[in-house]
Amino acid sequence: MKRKELIKKYIDFFKLKKHKEIPNFSLVPENDSSVLYTTAGMHPLIPYLLGQKHPLGERLCNVQRCLRTQDIDKIGDEVHHTFFEMLGNWSLGNYWKKEAIKYSFEFLTKILKISKEKLAVTCFKGNKYIPKDEESKKIWESLGIRKERIKFLGEKENFWIAGETGPCGPDAEIFFWTSRRKPPKEFNPGDKNWVEIWNNVFMEYEKQKNGNFIKLKQKNVDTGMGVERTLAALSNLEDDYLTECFFPIIKKIETLSGKRYKENKEETKAMRILADHIKASIFIINDGVLPSNTEQGYVLRRLIRRAVRYAYKLGIKKITEIAEPIFEIYDDYNLKKNKEKIISELEREEKKFLKTLEKGLNRFKKLASQKKKLSGKDAFLLYQSFGFPVEMIEEEAKKAQIFFRREDFEREKEGHRVLSRTAAKGKFKSGLVGNNMEVTKLHTATHLLNQALREVLKKDIFQRGSNINEERLRFDFSFDRKLTPEEIKKIEEIVNEKIKENLPVECKEMNLEEAKKVAKGVFDEKYKSLEKIKVYFIGDFSKEICAGPHVKRTGELGEGGRKFKILKEESSSFGVRRIKAALV
Ligand code: ALA
Repeated sequence: MKRKELIKKYIDFFKLKKHKEIPNFSLVPENDSSVLYTTAGMHPLIPYLLGQKHPLGERLCNVQRCLRTQDIDKIGDEVHHTFFEMLGNWSLGNYWKKEAIKYSFEFLTKILKISKEKLAVTCFKGNKYIPKDEESKKIWESLGIRKERIKFLGEKENFWIAGETGPCGPDAEIFFWTSRRKPPKEFNPGDKNWVEIWNNVFMEYEKQKNGNFIKLKQKNVDTGMGVERTLAALSNLEDDYLTECFFPIIKKIETLSGKRYKENKEETKAMRILADHIKASIFIINDGVLPSNTEQGYVLRRLIRRAVRYAYKLGIKKITEIAEPIFEIYDDYNLKKNKEKIISELEREEKKFLKTLEKGLNRFKKLASQKKKLSGKDAFLLYQSFGFPVEMIEEEAKKAQIFFRREDFEREKEGHRVLSRTAAKGKFKSGLVGNNMEVTKLHTATHLLNQALREVLKKDIFQRGSNINEERLRFDFSFDRKLTPEEIKKIEEIVNEKIKENLPVECKEMNLEEAKKVAKGVFDEKYKSLEKIKVYFIGDFSKEICAGPHVKRTGELGEGGRKFKILKEESSSFGVRRIKAALV
């Protein structure tokens, strides 16, 4: 079956069942700020699942473009991809389990003509809040699915929610037997030959911020059927990348690289990642996002840069050459209208990345000329700040004949993962936007800057705002005139001096009264309710009230020869100046 045929059959079937077709919305959600990208067909419907009346009624259906990057490390196997299309039908407080399951069964067996012997189902086994879904099981049985083919699983598998909060509920997942062998009598959800193709979510709950579940005003049905997986299953293909949604891209990669799909495991994985990431990037740019360091733009940047890395691995020097078939496969999206823009953005980002890699290579050469051994820390810096994949670090170390062990890098990386989890928890308290090591370094740099400003301007200046991302810090402070170039130079010198001194950064907890005595900082309302307040000491240079997180020693800011630099000094509002600075 062809992609367009499957989509048409689905929409026509649900239209016959009195559903109205809604548009295929943008990948960037409009009505939902809980996710960066549309990860399922239900996102644009959240207000209506919560009870608002939909202008087209209570029965809806569509095909929706989606993007999921949570499992980016799994991409490369047979069935995962970031970009995919989802077929869906919805009942907004209209029909419930019986009709929903009947529709699914009818579509699969009558329209797609799948034998029920090749089908199996999982239902929710219940938890302390929500009972076991016996009702769904009975309906499946009444349709002729034997009880050996119905399994009950827990929250991880059979409870669906888009993010942390929102409409949610138990679900029934439908599996299809993909092997040519006869399907076994007993269904084992762990057997890879059973592929999940369709999910029926019975949304009658809303999960609240405090973790409680409340009943929604209405009982909704939200379903999702993966187009690529279903096509692969129906055509007896062992992987999604062999379907027409991917294969022309794989073919192009074969031609450009001179390598064959499925000949070598690593190369096959690289081909899949490359095909997937380029496709996803094209769709994202088409929906108006550009590469950047925040939010949607950052996801796009990561996808493009990963694509470049894998293209290089395969010996392909220009990722845009792979883009061509995508415009043809998805001609129903009219991507061609934006082709020029899409290609030039991909090119621009590729060039930018190559420049960063080049800078990193220079940094590597410098390190290699000074040392006989590349530490985990050095390698992590190359990885994080310059986007070096670890394999490349290994190769370069070998070439330069310096000692490097991959475990040292992995250990360092794990340490940072733990740190960033801790940092994520502190994120709301401290007003930081990101939570990685770069942000942590710039946070410490902000404290150094604050103290340096006090010393140079000889004034007890006050912090008026702070905003940090991976690329720069932004610091607003009370001061009434422009800084002179000499003052800026002096401030930079002081901060760099303190970085060189490798001062320890220590955190002490104390009560508000003590804290006010020893430290500067913003004494606003938010501290009043706290019993213990954190004060960060940087050597005996700076003391600030702050929630952290910070680096352990200031020397970390100068790793790889980086220096603190003020990029801009300007007026922010009356009596407030703004500095943007970075570690370069
Ligand atoms: N929203 C459900 C899913 O994505 C249907 O699986």
